[in-house]
Amino acid sequence: MPLEKTLIIIKPDAVARGLTGKIVSRFEEKGLAVVAMRKTMVPRRTAEEHYAEHRDKPFYSSLVDFITSAPVVLIALEGRDAVAVVRKMIGKTLGRAAEPGTIRGDYGMSQNFNLVHASDSLLSAARETALFFNDDDYVPSNLRDASNWTYDLSSGSPN
Ligand code: CMP
Repeated sequence: MPLEKTLIIIKPDAVARGLTGKIVSRFEEKGLAVVAMRKTMVPRRTAEEHYAEHRDKPFYSSLVDFITSAPVVLIALEGRDAVAVVRKMIGKTLGRAAEPGTIRGDYGMSQNFNLVHASDSLLSAARETALFFNDDDYVPSNLRDASNWTYDLSSGSPN
């Protein structure tokens, strides 16, 4: 089954507002697998590279300032059509225009403080995941069925 990986950044506003858990839960409940995750400050150079396609836009430097201003949570999600599925789940850039039921529609009002970044194409996803994660940061997504995690069946008597 072909699986895609996509990059999510839970941005400084969402982390500071204590929304990390809620946002991660939405992706998990949807059925996407968290295959890498790290809370970090983004170095300025990395942010500039990440947002390189916006270099000529008037909001570029404030965008880089914002994403480097406080901790973020970087996540690689894996699933079928993960790039498109996640884009749908986050909603429109402007929070107050985003549909209810989307992450931005439910938690945000702003354009700049828009809670999450998600890769917008397979090409961006490949570039962005490689910018923030190394091959050895990834864990396998489906080692065991969830029902087998209630007790440790490998021990003599299930514990
Ligand atoms: P993000 O998905 O991280 O990718 C580009 C970001 O640019 C976007 O979220 C917004 O936070 C930011 N941005 C700021 N101003 C604008 C604008 N006028 N149009 C689109 N994006 C903008």
